Amino acid sequence: MKEFIDNIPKAELHIHLEGSIEPKMLLTLAEKNKIRLRYNTIEEVEKAYHFKDLKDFLYIYTQGTKVLRKAEDFYDITKAYLSKVYSQSVLHAEIFIDFQTYSRRGIRSEIIMDGITSAIKDAKRDYGASAYLILAFLRHLGVREALKTLIEGVKYRDDLIGIGLASTELGYPPEMFEKVFEEARKYGFKTMAHAGEEGPAEYVRNSIEVLKVDRVDHGNRAMEDSDLVKMIVDRQIPLTICPLSNIALGNVKRLEEHTLKKKLDMGMLVSVNSDDPAYFGGYVNENMISVTKALNLTKADIVKLANNSFVSSFLPEDKKKYYLEMIKRYSE
Ligand code: ADE
Ligand code: ZN
Repeated sequence: MKEFIDNIPKAELHIHLEGSIEPKMLLTLAEKNKIRLRYNTIEEVEKAYHFKDLKDFLYIYTQGTKVLRKAEDFYDITKAYLSKVYSQSVLHAEIFIDFQTYSRRGIRSEIIMDGITSAIKDAKRDYGASAYLILAFLRHLGVREALKTLIEGVKYRDDLIGIGLASTELGYPPEMFEKVFEEARKYGFKTMAHAGEEGPAEYVRNSIEVLKVDRVDHGNRAMEDSDLVKMIVDRQIPLTICPLSNIALGNVKRLEEHTLKKKLDMGMLVSVNSDDPAYFGGYVNENMISVTKALNLTKADIVKLANNSFVSSFLPEDKKKYYLEMIKRYSE
């Protein structure tokens, strides 16, 4: 089964670029840019990667972003992520990036976009794999900051497929951001929001009904509202599930209790993703292998998850069809 999972063509739709900085890369960039971190060795970094909850994780994650200064740093982390996941048969990725963390340190969006888009171009040339970018708003910084960031994002309309909400969920309900999402849709951005990771089912419902998102990130706690589950199934609203993240952040106690398989069996459009692979113990394939063991997933489940990853993507219809055919041929 591991080999089947490793080689099946797939897309990854929920990955924060900053969450892909491996400890070795973190230390290399820190040394290069003369940034003082609290750690000196890979072992020390790894020891620090134990989290009480999302807030606790976000603090350490934000510390890690301090090593990024120049376009070449953004290039290096993007290239490292794309080459790693290409080796896992990820043929398309939709990657969250953040402007707000950097603008506060005087790093302009041009620097970020220059590095990241160059790496995406090179990956396309070298592997034929594609990647789209999603601008994430940090919900704890509020609505005005999100609107300002949206205007900044419009400059890169051709390189950003969409916008999303990330960071601390509890206390920052989706409806706060209604106007931001309404504006973003006018510019033609696809929209999504982290919801139901820590927050209640109501946050998932309001992401769909008020923000009118195209996709929900996580969405785990939607299961607490059966009418909402029915709506998600009927409307085939994609949920990007991140099993190892849910365990690392204490949102699910044991993988055996994860609702991924239930969701699949109910006909929900779920995919498996890594969220922050350098922090949570694995990339998309490690996530798939772990849930397969814990939930006794079958080959048919894996094929469905791979299919769902492309169906839930923002790729054009002809590309989706092409990849679905590829999976069909692979699994016959
Ligand atoms: N940013 C990076 N990882 C995140 C997560 N799991 N939830 C919310 N915001 C995030
Ligand atoms: Zn996330």
